[in-house]
Amino acid sequence: MEQALKGQASPAPAVRMLPTYVGSTPHGTEQGDFVVLELGATGASLRVLWVTLMGIEGHKVEPRSQEFVIPQEVMLGPGQQLFDFAARCLSEFLDALPVGNQGLQLGFSFSFPCHQTGLDKSTLISWTKGFRCSGVEGQDVVQLLRDAIQRQGTYSIDVVAVVNDTVGTMMGCEPGVGPCEVGLVVDTGTNACYMEEARHVAVLDEDRGRVCISVEWGSFSDDGALGPVLTIFDRTLDHESLNLGAQRFEKMIGGLYLGELVRLVLAHLARCGVLFGGYTSPALLRQGGILLEHVAEMEDPSAGAARVHAILQDLGLNPRASDAEFVQHVCAAVCTRAAQLCAAALAAVLSRLQHSREQQTLQIAVATGGRVFERHPRFLSILQETVMLLAPECDVSFIPSVDGGGQGVAMVTAVAARLAAHRCLLEETLAPFRLTREQLAAVQAQMREAMAKGLQGEASSLRMLPTYIRDTPDGSERGDFLALDLGGTNFRVLLVRVATGGVQITSQIYSIPECVAQGSGQQLFDHIVDCIVDFQEKQGLSGQSLPLGFTFSFPCMQLGLDQGILLNWTKGFNASDCEGQDVVCLLREAIGRRQAVELNVVAIVNDTVGTMMSCGYEDPHCEVGLIVELEVCGSLEGDWELLEHSVWHREMLERGRPRLLCELTTGWSNSRVQQTCLELAVCWGEEGKAFTQGTGTNACYMEELRNVASVAGDSGHMCINMEWGAFGDDGSLSMLSTCFDASVDQASINPGKQRFEKMISGMYLGEIVRHTLLHLTSLGVLFRGQQTQRLQTRDIFKTKFLSEIESDSLALRQVRAILEDLGLSLTSDDALMVLEVCQAVSQRAAQLCGAGVAAVVEKIRENRGLEELTVSVGVDGTLYKLHPHFSSLVAATVRELAPRCVVTFLQSEDGSGKGAALVTAVACRLAQMTCV
Ligand code: BG6
Ligand code: GLC
Ligand code: GLC
Repeated sequence: MEQALKGQASPAPAVRMLPTYVGSTPHGTEQGDFVVLELGATGASLRVLWVTLMGIEGHKVEPRSQEFVIPQEVMLGPGQQLFDFAARCLSEFLDALPVGNQGLQLGFSFSFPCHQTGLDKSTLISWTKGFRCSGVEGQDVVQLLRDAIQRQGTYSIDVVAVVNDTVGTMMGCEPGVGPCEVGLVVDTGTNACYMEEARHVAVLDEDRGRVCISVEWGSFSDDGALGPVLTIFDRTLDHESLNLGAQRFEKMIGGLYLGELVRLVLAHLARCGVLFGGYTSPALLRQGGILLEHVAEMEDPSAGAARVHAILQDLGLNPRASDAEFVQHVCAAVCTRAAQLCAAALAAVLSRLQHSREQQTLQIAVATGGRVFERHPRFLSILQETVMLLAPECDVSFIPSVDGGGQGVAMVTAVAARLAAHRCLLEETLAPFRLTREQLAAVQAQMREAMAKGLQGEASSLRMLPTYIRDTPDGSERGDFLALDLGGTNFRVLLVRVATGGVQITSQIYSIPECVAQGSGQQLFDHIVDCIVDFQEKQGLSGQSLPLGFTFSFPCMQLGLDQGILLNWTKGFNASDCEGQDVVCLLREAIGRRQAVELNVVAIVNDTVGTMMSCGYEDPHCEVGLIVELEVCGSLEGDWELLEHSVWHREMLERGRPRLLCELTTGWSNSRVQQTCLELAVCWGEEGKAFTQGTGTNACYMEELRNVASVAGDSGHMCINMEWGAFGDDGSLSMLSTCFDASVDQASINPGKQRFEKMISGMYLGEIVRHTLLHLTSLGVLFRGQQTQRLQTRDIFKTKFLSEIESDSLALRQVRAILEDLGLSLTSDDALMVLEVCQAVSQRAAQLCGAGVAAVVEKIRENRGLEELTVSVGVDGTLYKLHPHFSSLVAATVRELAPRCVVTFLQSEDGSGKGAALVTAVACRLAQMTCV
């Protein structure tokens, strides 16, 4: 099995492992009328069925069916004759039903080894089980059937799906007993199918979801693997068969062969004089003389010696008194071996499933079908006992199939139809998220227009705030500085030493309790000063008045480097009496209230500016700063990387437990971070769940001073804080906004505000995904249409999950686990669709962000009248850094929309803290120069 799944070519694996393109087990919601044509399951007969599926609610409707015997010469004649015969049977059957010439959907159960390349495309590899029609091997049997139906010309029938009998058996298993993921048939031949992880199937270019594989185990041991087990009778049977050397395993198990084996043994024993007084009969010597029915009946203990005698006499034999018991022994030996071999093969499938699903004990239902199960009294019980022995870790229930798999074939047909319909609905839902190049170019153009208006002081959703920063660092900056960082994921106080050898940072993270963030302004600033004082004490800096840079990541109207009037709070802050005030004054007043300290506040800086400046220290081309934040929710298992990336402080948010301060510094080893977190976890008393958040996106860049209406001067540059989060607040993005964006906006604390930000950053992406999933559920496309309480819970879908779910290294199984962790129970199909929703939402975010960057760099290029601009963008923010595809999508979009700009993205480390210090340093340097 493993060799075949891996696609090994030589030596050819002994089982074929053929993908069937059936990707999900039935929902139970399937509905409609279907025609089923069955060929090859039951010996020389063909069956046509009319199956009505009623969904979950409906009453079960018994299928109508008719069986036709296929004449021997048709089984061995030209292929066209066989398919014409099938089409004739179809017409004859339908003639007797009240079905006009409506478009009928047909499922074709064709039970021979076939290479399937789609649900309705299947090439016969070789005939088995007594069929040998010419001109069919190597052909698409669906096409042959379609052609024949067309030649017949009476009905318009669409062949929607082709399935193996094992698949029909599995799919027909009554839903409700848990998923039935194995189908086992022992009829004329024998075979099994099961649900395999698609990524294990080399021939499929698919690493997601599951697919049903037809094992085609009938051919097992054609390479001689079972040599030592084969008896002289097996060899004789093979020699006399139509397919010499092929299907050796099947020839020990299938119903077509059990009677034959018994006949060969009995003839041998008669010849040896052990049975029938040494006499044989013509029937005993004729191939096909003993049938499965005879064997089953003779072996049945309730049959009694008289019945055995009667059967033997019918065969022209003259049994003696002791013969009946012997004959029963022979039948039992042949059938027991068949059931045990079949069980061994099934156990192999089950333990493969158990391993690939990494389950300690596998609970699984196996659907069984075929005449051997129906007619033979002990086959199933021997099979069960042997499976229990060979695969003790599997808890298997056996479920007999309904009407020989016909129902299952109808299910596949219905599923094929449903999947197509669901795919359509999913595509329709996600279409508004998939932005065309033209749409993105329009966003870029609108952004350019809004930038120009904002710079001129006209009405615009972009405020284009001057920052009074005229220069990026030149590398000559030196000294010790204090920095504050408020408005990102963490509030931090930093000591930054800028020296010849580089920049050295010591920092501490402090909490801003929610009651302070949303309390009074005075409280907030007093708290900030308390934190600074605490930091100074710990660092032995008390009494020193180092120059201080304040990274304050909210929209501010600056009137100078150290003057910033807060225009409005964003991102969950709402302290009173601050809007409209100069933040530096508020800080200085708080310092004054705390008389003991002296602090020299030199500059107020937005985080984008800090990021640009810190990258500018390394790369003089860095003239743009970009932030794309993500809220972070970490857990103790598996998040060390995340922790290392994002230096944070976490506080106890839940159930009023004491708030907790913690300091983590970048560059700590895993074990250190781990230890600290474990300590935290102990305090939290929970499985180490930690929460922080940051939700913004914004950009700044170096603009020509002459373009900035609100600042005097015509030469030189000035860094502009765009506050692009608010882009579109004048309604200009409404064309792109989906109904899901509208719901997220409405439920936020600032409806109508920060519309661009809400499409790009932070917790909003998770919420957009959640609203989209709710919609898909209501359409019945997801979660079987069942709304769960969990999914209705706000913010349950952390944006971090998008990063995790979209990570390429994750198998769908893990995606499922993440979602199951959220309390959502879902199928592989569901998981795949959730993944597609996440991809659509984050792709749009990255592309919009890219369109914004393209607008900015193009503006810089045009400002300078350059043919080509080489520029770097300093970036910070957890979404950008941690999402597996975000950064490359941003870059690709910029390449597409700003082809004349060569843009390098630099990831900033500790951007705002270091940047604020550098701004302060530049300011001090310029101040000194002025003095001189
Ligand atoms: C940090 C800066 O490095 O990055 C913050 O110091 C900034 O000021 C942050 O806001 C952005 O990322 P996050 O962690 O908030 O998503
Ligand atoms: C034969 C066929 C296989 C089928 C089985 C049971 O082995 O090759 O496709 O499933 O018989 O009918
Ligand atoms: C919000 C703020 C902005 C900041 C951004 C990233 O959009 O308004 O000032 O730069 O978040 O933190």
